[in-house]
Amino acid sequence: MNFVITRHSSPTPEGARRKLLVEPGFGRIYTDHMVTMRWTPEAGWHDGQITPRAPFSIHPASHVLHYAQEIFEGLKAYRTDSGAIALFRPEMNAARFARSAERLAMPPLPPPVFIEALERLVQVDREWVPEGESSLYLNPFMFGNDPYLGARASLNYIFCVLALPVGHYFKAGARPLKVWVTETYARAAPGGTGAAKCGGNYAAALAASNEAVAHGCDHAVFLDAVEHRWVEELAGANIFFVMNDGTLLTPPLDGTILPGITRATIIELASAAGLPVRESRYAFNQWRSDAGSGRLREVFACGTGATVASIGEVASASGSFRIADGDPGPITARIKKALFDAQRGRTAERLEWLRFVA
Ligand code: PLP
Ligand code: COI
Repeated sequence: MNFVITRHSSPTPEGARRKLLVEPGFGRIYTDHMVTMRWTPEAGWHDGQITPRAPFSIHPASHVLHYAQEIFEGLKAYRTDSGAIALFRPEMNAARFARSAERLAMPPLPPPVFIEALERLVQVDREWVPEGESSLYLNPFMFGNDPYLGARASLNYIFCVLALPVGHYFKAGARPLKVWVTETYARAAPGGTGAAKCGGNYAAALAASNEAVAHGCDHAVFLDAVEHRWVEELAGANIFFVMNDGTLLTPPLDGTILPGITRATIIELASAAGLPVRESRYAFNQWRSDAGSGRLREVFACGTGATVASIGEVASASGSFRIADGDPGPITARIKKALFDAQRGRTAERLEWLRFVA
């Protein structure tokens, strides 16, 4: 794909940009440019552009506004110690985006085009990649844009990539999270879209997030939709349990949870460090009793935005309990550091995970 680049005529001045990069937060600040591309049955993917970031003008009947045919991805560009900029495992996001497209009956974007779009945008907005713990979050997304009311797949699609300098996604920052295990709401059912990264999954999780906040918790944890028994994941992160023999346990990819790239990376890093990992179902009852007996030592959430976030306390309609003393544990800290080092190019044997772009 030949992306036509039109540079912003009055980009954010350097001083203002530097200020924004100090404490970027999450989801508030956008770079000066964006990627757009279109799909029609006649032309396929075409009209790839990098332009100044600007609002869309879409028909009020646009498919996405009514039937939510939308998917997205989330990955980051990091600045390494040497000042180079690298994407972390973008081919995994490209593959997941193609799988999400298939599940939502959308035309898949060839992975090389997906990756090229990200590379070009990061090159154009390279000054926006922060240093240190912050990074540039890339949000590729695609939506059906047919001006037609009727529940069939759209015949027009727009692909777009936004770039955002970000710090912590979880507001708790470094404080251990208090999570709410919802027994009211399910996020995804067998045969549904739980394994796809589609906007609808996030909309379906919002009532549970509100329920969590109403009970003084940071985030909701979902159980399976059939037995309301097996722990699945958070609305925006996967979950790991650390047992007292050093084993890591995480729910299996049975089709209802998102196959996290951070999850896959942690499984590889932990296994290489000699920590056994088991992908198996874990019941909420078991979670409570293992926390009580001391068999369970640590719990953490993980994701691109979340990074590795310790979970210190668990609440539900049937009461609350702590994980050990409620503080972040040593294995969580070790995993967090191993992930951070791999993302920043500090681990020689993991350099193949980085795709240097600028
Ligand atoms: N599960 C959900 C529902 C998510 O939104 C995310 C996104 O971060 C994850 C898990 C973790 O996925 P990844 O590690 O690819 O970011
Ligand atoms: C991510 O971390 O990439 C996520 O998808 C979470 C999100 C809702 C910002």
